[in-house]
Amino acid sequence: MFRNIRVVTEPDYDAMSRAAAEIFAEALKEKPNGVYGFATGGTPVGMYKELISMAEASEIDFSQVTTFNLDEYHPINPDDPQSYIYFMRQNLFNAVGLKDSQINIPNGTAADPVAECAAYEDKILNAGGIDLQILGIGNNGHIGFNEPSEAFTAQTNYTALTEMTVKANARFFNNADEVPKHAITMGIRSIMLAKRILLLCGGEGKASILHDALLGPITPLVPASILQTHPNVTVVTDKAAAALL
Ligand code: PGA
Repeated sequence: MFRNIRVVTEPDYDAMSRAAAEIFAEALKEKPNGVYGFATGGTPVGMYKELISMAEASEIDFSQVTTFNLDEYHPINPDDPQSYIYFMRQNLFNAVGLKDSQINIPNGTAADPVAECAAYEDKILNAGGIDLQILGIGNNGHIGFNEPSEAFTAQTNYTALTEMTVKANARFFNNADEVPKHAITMGIRSIMLAKRILLLCGGEGKASILHDALLGPITPLVPASILQTHPNVTVVTDKAAAALL
């Protein structure tokens, strides 16, 4: 039914967050010096809270990890509270004691965003690739900021956000006008090269797109549908988002 995809369905958001954190923690214990990819957005916040609790209880240790984030707005300043680096510091990195040298995220202030994309892709390759990549999924099926389009993107790319994404993200800003209209995002191929993928998806508003991503045709119009061809994907969801599976 799900081809290569394992789906873990939990009753609600809290249970989903705990289940995802458990999966992440197991991977981290197995490879304490691994390369871990993180995502922003509302969905992973609960999982990050669980990971912070585990780290505080010394059940897991982030001291040897290397991290890569999926994306960052461009242009945006790192000390802007809307930037993704700021989000990650607030929601995970500071509390688990990550040093700057362990953190990689596209530079939202890069003068040449296209050159920044190539440099970021090189960094991922030089780190030996990503062992486990956390993903959310947008209402339009995007992963990272790889928006629906005529073709799947390959490498880290500089992209315009669709109107739907700007609208969806406006909830974090005063209004849609304040949302940056461009971003730097790991490409679909960069994401697909991760050895393992953990996709989190919750809430009834995501039921239809999760159905299309997991069970619909593989098409760049639903970027997440490419995950059907990845050999090691786990989806952690709640009952509401899993309603149409
Ligand atoms: P969300 O965003 O977790 O805030 O719903 C997901 C995404 O856009 O990838």
